[in-house]
Parts: sequence; structure tokens; C-alpha cells
Amino acid sequence: MAIIADGKNGLFTLHTKNTTYQMKADAFGTLLHVYYGERTDHTDKSYIICGRNRGFSGNPYGMGKRKEYSLDVLPQEYSCYGTGDYRISALKVQNGDGSQAVQLRFQDYRIRKGKYAIPGLPAVYALEEEADTLEVILEDAASKVEIHLLYGVLEENDIITRAVKIINRGDDGILLQKAASMNLDFLDGDYEWLTFYGRHVMERNIQRDELTHGIHAVGSVRGTSSHHYNPFAIVCEKNADEEKGSCYGFSFLYSGEFQMEAEKDQVDQTRVICGIHPDNFAWNLRPGEAFDTPEVMMTYSGAGFGTLSRNLHRTIRKNICRGEWKEKRRPVLINNWEATYFQFSGEQLVQMARKAAGLGIELFVLDDGWFGKRDDDNSGLGDWYPNEKKLGCTLKELADRIVECGMQFGLWFEPEAVSEDSDLYRAHPDWAVAVPGRQPDLSRNQLVLDFSRADVQDYIIGRMSTIFEETPVTYVKWDFNRSICDKYSMALEAQSQGEFAHRYVLGLYRVLETLTEKFPRILFEGCSGGGGRFDAGMLYYTPQIWCSDNSDAIARLSIQYGTSFGYPISAMGAHVSAVPNHQTARIVPFATRGSVAMAGTFGYELDITKIPEAEGEEVKRQIHWFKAHYDLIQSGEYYRLRAPSDRQCTVWETADPKGKEALVTAVYHHVEGNAAPVTVKVQGLCQEVYYRMCLNMEGMTQLPEEMREKFLQCLPYGYHEGETVTGAALRQCGLVIPEALEEFQAWQIHIVEV
Ligand code: DGJ
Repeated sequence: MAIIADGKNGLFTLHTKNTTYQMKADAFGTLLHVYYGERTDHTDKSYIICGRNRGFSGNPYGMGKRKEYSLDVLPQEYSCYGTGDYRISALKVQNGDGSQAVQLRFQDYRIRKGKYAIPGLPAVYALEEEADTLEVILEDAASKVEIHLLYGVLEENDIITRAVKIINRGDDGILLQKAASMNLDFLDGDYEWLTFYGRHVMERNIQRDELTHGIHAVGSVRGTSSHHYNPFAIVCEKNADEEKGSCYGFSFLYSGEFQMEAEKDQVDQTRVICGIHPDNFAWNLRPGEAFDTPEVMMTYSGAGFGTLSRNLHRTIRKNICRGEWKEKRRPVLINNWEATYFQFSGEQLVQMARKAAGLGIELFVLDDGWFGKRDDDNSGLGDWYPNEKKLGCTLKELADRIVECGMQFGLWFEPEAVSEDSDLYRAHPDWAVAVPGRQPDLSRNQLVLDFSRADVQDYIIGRMSTIFEETPVTYVKWDFNRSICDKYSMALEAQSQGEFAHRYVLGLYRVLETLTEKFPRILFEGCSGGGGRFDAGMLYYTPQIWCSDNSDAIARLSIQYGTSFGYPISAMGAHVSAVPNHQTARIVPFATRGSVAMAGTFGYELDITKIPEAEGEEVKRQIHWFKAHYDLIQSGEYYRLRAPSDRQCTVWETADPKGKEALVTAVYHHVEGNAAPVTVKVQGLCQEVYYRMCLNMEGMTQLPEEMREKFLQCLPYGYHEGETVTGAALRQCGLVIPEALEEFQAWQIHIVEV
């Protein structure tokens, strides 16, 4: 059992393979946080919490003369606002009498086999024998607010999840003004944190800051998790890097407004809080009602960021993603967006599909513009009826023709959006999110459908279901192209408008849950103007998400690198697109575009009917290579070997979990004259086993024959026929990456056991 409870002493210890977490209810009933870190035993470690009289840090009534006991400095499992803790708090409640005070005391606990679930919300799941649940119950004696702290322990994965259920057992209604999912108090304060900021077409850049005194926070008030900050953060020791140092990962399974906060307090302790953003949150909890917070997944690594990321990757792949497509090989796709934008005919699409099928592409995705009056982005959203005039046939006929080419058929939707110029809006203006008496903010000239309403949810479920029933669709791209403001629902009472933002997300999840359950054959890919809703919550419904609207392979190095800290390759939508690139105008070799897209779900997004014959041949070889190494790429252990901030080269690796093979990909993002050699330490191989290196020659197809010969002769040791190197040598001495032959050169090196 991964959970050890000493009920008499109020001591709870959670063990995973390599980590330990401990909390203790003290004599006063406060649930103190004791420890989270490297695995240790389950003896009481609360001796490390040293009370001391701190001026201006008050003492709870009933402590007598014990001035050293103050909630203002004690490490707590779930901190509350208004009763003597002046730091950031996890819970803020307005009681029926208008007061804002809660003081939680330990009541009870329960332990059960298996992992708890959360009604209506995504959550890590596991087989009963793979996880355990601890539920600790706290209560505020005055208001009778009951707090159930939920802990899910996935021992093998080194993952602990947290969520909270809040029950109003009192006689008066209360208002939840803040209900975070997690509070983690560290007894020390020498940390940094990594957060992921960005913008449309440049998501998830890394920022590393010292957690100095004061409050540090990132979050989103945009209705979605956003391009601008990601609901994922790492708190780490100052010297932590890919391979060393203590670090803690926090991934929030939520696709709406979130806040991650950290505060270093007066005595250099650090508090980290994660939950729904409190700015647009005010939830009425009537007597007898319960509120469930979304879940946070936590992992600790004593060996740097690499291990931390791999713990999350494994868990997302196995314990968050669901459905038929979780394990099944996903098809190599072609999407028509960057090829045609809104201007296409059905005949043109069939030509593209036919050519693509001949090259080995397996799925044709028809993007925006196939429905309603939608020849640009000013109209038509909401009218999910095929535009047969534009297609020249029914949608079913088009899909059938594409299927006859030997391809699967996929379709784009933006179910949460509505255009003012649409039949849906004309019929139901009250379904759009807007504040009465004010003109709503337009973004991409569109409005947002009120997904907090059950009638709107049902309408979308019905419309999409009909299309799925009538058409052989096996893939859906679920897009959402704006942030939400003017938050207001015509279906909510005035005093409940503070519930809108969260109810919207619950509505979104209900629609996704219903459709994914009803149509298990369909692979859903998430998208929000690229990576504007790239979070672990969405991955519960859509096992892959379009990573960014920036398809430039060199820009993608940073975007996919940042994303990899919290999310696996199998979740990152990535395509080969045309050059000059539509977002950056950069010209990158075809082989490099392929190598970078293969560090994702892999597909194409260009007019395949217009590419030169030689590139067509490259497409065939890329698909062949990708399929041959599919399991290694998609389910291998991921290592970041050189960051995009490196002077010359970005390098990553995926290794077979048993160490039989690895694939190293290097992309020269900066070419220098007379350059220094690039050597990387290969990880995840068996020390004493011999390996040979197979270079994917795709990266040199552009070379004239004599240069090719010369290059091959000058390859570093290990690449020539018959040469082998041990795993230990590759780990300790390294692998030399062949030099760059041109700008933005990429090399894929397959390392195989001999
Ligand atoms: C934004 C997406 O990220 C693009 O790939 C494309 O689907 C457009 N929306 C269509 O409007």
C-alpha cells in the first residue's frame, strides 16, 4: 500500500517508487504539510517544523499563551483566507453573514484502492491495483464547511494527484471566492520556477525566475488555458538542470482560467498554489451542495527536469489519454488549411487526396470553410451544414470519394464559436456570450457560444452527431479561435454570473465526453488557434493537440522544446508545410521539416499537388521512416540533449524503455564556418551493450555525388560500416553529430543494438 496512515497521531505518508509525501494533523487539528521529496521512511518528520513567536503573526484562539503557534508561518496542507494566515491562500469563502473566514480542523480520513474520479472533470485514471486514494476531511466548525482533500497515488509513475471537494453542511448558502486545487508549503525558500509564456504562433517559451520574497503568479483570464501562459510549472533548486537537482512539476488538468502562484514569506518559506483563477470565479454553494475542483498532477524528481518530464509523459500517455486512439497508431495526415485556406472546391480536395494517398499519406483533413457561408473568417460559424455549392456535392459524396482514394476522412469544427452573420446567430442571439446592454468584443470577427447552457451543448452534440452519423468521419479537429470576454450568460441569475467561466468549461467537457464516448472511432485533435488550449485537461478527451499555428520548423524547435517539459511527443500536432513558411517566411530544407514534424504526431499541410517530384519521393521516404520508428518515437523515453538556446544545434532523443535502440535528432539552427564539433551524451541505453549508428541519409539528398562521397568519408567514428560503440561510451564520451552541410541541416541517427 502506497499510503500509510497513523490515524491516532494524525500522520499520513504517501509513497511512490522514488518519492515520499507526508502531512500531519497537529494537536490543534491543523493539517500541516510536513514533507515532499526524495523517498524516505514513514516515521514522523514533523520535528522539522519549528514554531517560534513571530511578531504580528497572531495565534488562534484557544492556544493559551503559546505565541509560537501561528497559522501565518506554519506549513499547511490547505490554507484559508481570513483567519490569521496573511500569505496567499487556497480557500476564500464568504459565509452567509458576509464574513470571509474559515478555519479548517482535521475530522477524519479514508483510504481506498484505486484512483478517485471527479464528476464532470478530467482526472488521472488507473487500474485499481495501480493507484490508491487518500481522502482527508477537514471542517470549519462555525460554518460547517467541509473540505475533502483528495490524494491519488500512482506509485510506479511517481505521481501524486490532488483535488478538493467542498461540501456545505451548514444551514446558510456560502460563496466560494477562491477554491484552489492544491497548496504546497515548503519549509525553505531557495527556489526558482519555470513557467511557460507565449502568444499566438509562439507558445510555451520558458521563463526561469527566482522565487524571491513576494508573490509570483501566472495564469489566464481568457476563458481558455491560453497561448499566453500554460497551466504547468516547475519549482526547482537553483542548480537544477536536465540531469540533476530537485524539482517539482505541477500540471493542472483544466482547460479554463487558471492561476499558479508562489510566495516566499517573511521567514523564507515558499508556498505554491494552483487552481481555478479567482478573478472570474464566485460559486454559490447552497446547503447540502458540493463543489469539485479540477485536479493537479504533481511529480518530484531528484534528478532534474528530464526525469520530471518523463514521469509526466508516461502518465499523460497511459493515465490521462483515453479511448481507441490512446494506443493505436495514429494516421499520417494531410490538412488543406495552409494549402488552400478558404478557397477550394470539392474536386480540388479530391485531387489532393488522390496524390497524397499515392505518396503514403493516410488521412485527409478538410479544414475550415466547408460549411455555411464561409469563404473568409467573417461569417458562417455555427452553421454546421455542408456548403454543397462550394463542395460541388454532398459532404458524404466528397468523403466517399476521398475514402475511395484509399484515405480516411477528417473534418474541422469550431463548435464553441458563432458568427454574427450566421443563421444560428440570427435564430438564437441569446446563445452568444455578451453582457446585456453592451456590444460584445469581436475577435477574428466572431462571438462565443454560451457553452455553460445545456441547450447550447445539446444543440452542438446533436448537430455534430448527425454529421458523424451521415459521413465516414474518422478524425475531428476541434478548434477555438478567440479568447472569451464579456463573460455573462443569459441563462444564469445575476448572483450566479461568477460561475459562468467554470460552467463554460464544464459544458465544454460534457460535449467532449458525450461525443468521444458516442463515436469512439473518431480521433479528436484539440486546437485553439494552434496551441491556445494545450493542457492536460484537454488531453483527457483529445489525445493530440495542434501545437501551434506556427509551422516553421525552426520556430517549432522552441515551441516543441518548451511543450516537451510538460507534454509527450504523442500529444503534439506537427506538420510539414510549404516554404517560404507562411508565418515566418523562412526557407528550411524539406528533410528538416520532416524531422521536426516527426517529433510530433506527424503530417503534412501544403498543396501536395504542387510539390516537385523529388519532394514527393521524399514524402514517401519520410513516411516509411516514421512508420518504421513509430513506437520508438511516440512511446520512447524523451531526452532533451541540447536546447534551442544552444549556439549551433537543438538535439533530442527518444530511447526504447529497454535500451535496445534510440533515435537522436539534431537540427542546426545556426551554421558557423569552421564550426566546433557537436557532441551529445546519449541516454537510456544499456551500458555494456554494443550499438551501431545508422544515419538517415534523407538529410543529404540535395548534395552532388562527389560532395556526398567526401562527406561520407569524413563521418565521425561509429557511423561507418562495422563500427560499434558501447552504451557506456555513448553516455560518458558521447555521440558526435555529423557536421552541417547547409543552413538548417537536420540529422536523424538511429542507434541500434548489435
Ligand atoms: C486555427 C487553426 O489553428 C488552423 O490550423 C486552422 O484550422 C484555422 N484556425 C482555421 O480557421
